[in-house]
Amino acid sequence: MRRLNVPLGNRSYDVVIGRGIVAGLVSLLPAAAQRVAIITQDGIPAEIVLPGLDVTTFVIDRGEGAKTLHTIETLVRGFADMGLTRNDVVIGVGGGMVTDVAGFAASSWHRGTPVVHVPTSLLGMVDAAIGGKTGVNLPEGKNLVGAYWQPTGVLCDFDFLDTLPLREMRCGMGEMAKYHFLTGDNLLEMDLEERVARCIEIKAEIVASDERESGQRALLNYGHTFAHALEIATGHELAHGEAVAIGLVYAAELGHNLGRIDVDRVQEHRNVVAGEYDLMTSPPSGLDVDELMALMHRDKKALGSGLTFVLDGPSGIEVVSGVDEEPVRRAMETMLR
Ligand SMILES: NC(=O)c1ccc[n+]([C@@H]2O[C@H](COP(=O)([O-])OP(=O)(O)OC[C@H]3O[C@@H](n4cnc5c(N)ncnc54)[C@H](O)[C@@H]3O)[C@@H](O)[C@H]2O)c1
Repeated sequence: MRRLNVPLGNRSYDVVIGRGIVAGLVSLLPAAAQRVAIITQDGIPAEIVLPGLDVTTFVIDRGEGAKTLHTIETLVRGFADMGLTRNDVVIGVGGGMVTDVAGFAASSWHRGTPVVHVPTSLLGMVDAAIGGKTGVNLPEGKNLVGAYWQPTGVLCDFDFLDTLPLREMRCGMGEMAKYHFLTGDNLLEMDLEERVARCIEIKAEIVASDERESGQRALLNYGHTFAHALEIATGHELAHGEAVAIGLVYAAELGHNLGRIDVDRVQEHRNVVAGEYDLMTSPPSGLDVDELMALMHRDKKALGSGLTFVLDGPSGIEVVSGVDEEPVRRAMETMLR
């Protein structure tokens, strides 16, 4: 078992990773907790045993369509029924969808109840469960309603990955490819445990330097502006990690249109995403440029006039605001061709 830390002053917490470690979950729970609300989904293999605690399990639907305010209302009404107090604890056991929902429900219950995450997908372990961003979708866009609410602990048991479908493993690789570009680390050289640990370290370091995304944390959105538009435009047929992989290539094409990177660097993005990480680089056919543009305008990262993207450039990857529509459209047309 390995223990990493997300250093956030009095909101610091540990992330424990390893195989067969779920029995140690109790050590991450607040000492005062008596009642536990576990939020999970059908098909998640984790069996959580917490002797001496009063445990109620809530099973939520799968998929982005259930990542809604309606699900939050159902959960918090369930918390009321079970008498969950602010001294108790919510545990999210599942992929990023579950931990985002569990975190948001916990953040709003009694204006903030402790939450512990047990991510069971690769994407959840390397990204979603770390850093305290929680939230749900609206028909108008992804993750538009949410809160920053740090967990009090995170437990990543690699045994859970044994049942994770291949497609979901690849989604985790999409976020890993993002870390590849942010740091230049050759994550594929490492074994799985080393790789997950490194991704957690990278994310923890960025979150510690900018918890509320007023600067550096925005870099974690590399590839995400186009990805979120793709997810909505395809009715979530493209999963988040798949959309991020395509979004990374899109960000490179846009960076090139803006004169920030040369064609070789664009090709490097394609080589890493398609070749090394074995992920899709083109969106599915039949998407409409105008609809994607409208969705990108609605993205919560849009600041002031023009569009905001995280883009590669001569000084590395950075936030670029006020981007004109023309190069954005042109890059999209290249991707959809
Ligand atoms: N909060 C953040 O910082 C952050 C970062 C990245 C992504 N996200 C969010 O995470 C979500 C994507 O997460 P995801 O890729 O884990 O998708 P997901 O949570 O929808 O899980 C994908 C599918 O895999 C199943 N599953 C999960 N673990 C399993 C296991 N061990 N065995 C069998 N099946 C399992 C789930 O039930 C689900 O059907 C998106 O909603 C995205 O917005 C949040």
